[in-house]
Amino acid sequence: MRIYDAAKPALFLLPPETASTAVHYGLRAVQDTPIAELLARRYTISDHRLEQSICGLDFRTPVGVAAGFDKNAKIPRILSQLGFGHVEVGGITAEQQEGNPRPRLFRLTKDEALINRMGFNNEGADRIGDRLSREPQPDVPVGVNIGKSKSTPLEDAADDYLYTYKRVANVGDYFVVNVSSPNTPGLRSLQSRESLKQILGTLKNAGAKPLMVKLSPDLTDPAVEDALTVVNDLDLDGIIATNTTRSRPESLRNPHKVETGGLSGSPIEDEATNQIRFIAERTDVPIIGVGGVSDAAGAYEKIRAGASLVQLYTGFVFEGPSIAREINERLLELLEQDAFDSIAEAVGTDLT
Ligand SMILES: Cc1cc2nc3c(=O)[nH]c(=O)nc-3n(C[C@H](O)[C@H](O)[C@H](O)COP(=O)(O)O)c2cc1C
Repeated sequence: MRIYDAAKPALFLLPPETASTAVHYGLRAVQDTPIAELLARRYTISDHRLEQSICGLDFRTPVGVAAGFDKNAKIPRILSQLGFGHVEVGGITAEQQEGNPRPRLFRLTKDEALINRMGFNNEGADRIGDRLSREPQPDVPVGVNIGKSKSTPLEDAADDYLYTYKRVANVGDYFVVNVSSPNTPGLRSLQSRESLKQILGTLKNAGAKPLMVKLSPDLTDPAVEDALTVVNDLDLDGIIATNTTRSRPESLRNPHKVETGGLSGSPIEDEATNQIRFIAERTDVPIIGVGGVSDAAGAYEKIRAGASLVQLYTGFVFEGPSIAREINERLLELLEQDAFDSIAEAVGTDLT
């Protein structure tokens, strides 16, 4: 039995955001202590078959932490010590933001899902940029997820993203333009071809590299194709697919399904994988696959559909801190089973 199996029932008695805050305090408290070293010994895996070099960055395992989990970049080192191969911090906005009123995070336990309408609550680019430059870097790549401040009009979005980029330029290993969160009014309209060109072009001109864009699973196929045109025209370095969905699958059982916000976890797993496949069939740009990953089979499916790396958020909440190790260990078995010498070899093998 895992320690988390014992702790989870008590944790799940708390309101979701309270539980999340408690976990963050706990992780921050043990970060940089001898306990963290013990955790690293238990949870990190070193095996050359899991290693990849992508966009000039070395990833020791393919499983990373998705944006939103460490919004203020307070716990990246302990997350790497729990076995994650990269950590995407943020979403960070130019301005410090409170986010939406609580409750704004809902746990759909039987559905293994979350609905959130956090609204980019974060300490803002200045403070988080300072923290990242002051504190030691983890020993895995750190991505910085950049969102738009709520008060900034959509037509000024490019300057808002640029402000944040400049504050994190020296401390991020890769940069993600997030235009796909459903909780900032109008944000997702920035996924149109013209807006993307403007925002991504501005950051690219400012030297952001590797530069990636994170897409919504709710985009129509032609809209994804439009986004890919911009990615190719601007020679971007990566695509993150996907963010949370506004849609509500019929299968959802929990009454919280009516809450406004973005749905994540198991119910979006296939939709996210389908978008990864759709993108991989049309471009060679590296893909980071995210959405509903909670075990090795799910991670492997995304990898075989074309994702070079995967990320997770909701799976961490439901499976606990050993999730990265469990996925990495089992991925090695799956590679052996299919006679692949490395993860890189398995990427995209399900594409026709
Ligand atoms: C509470 C919460 C906050 C999130 N915040 C962000 C964010 O700030 N920026 C972002 O790009 N994605 C954010 N996400 C989306 C996740 O990064 C991820 O794309 C999505 O949850 C799907 O993955 P999952 O099913 O593994 O959770 C957030 C998700 C949750 C549940």
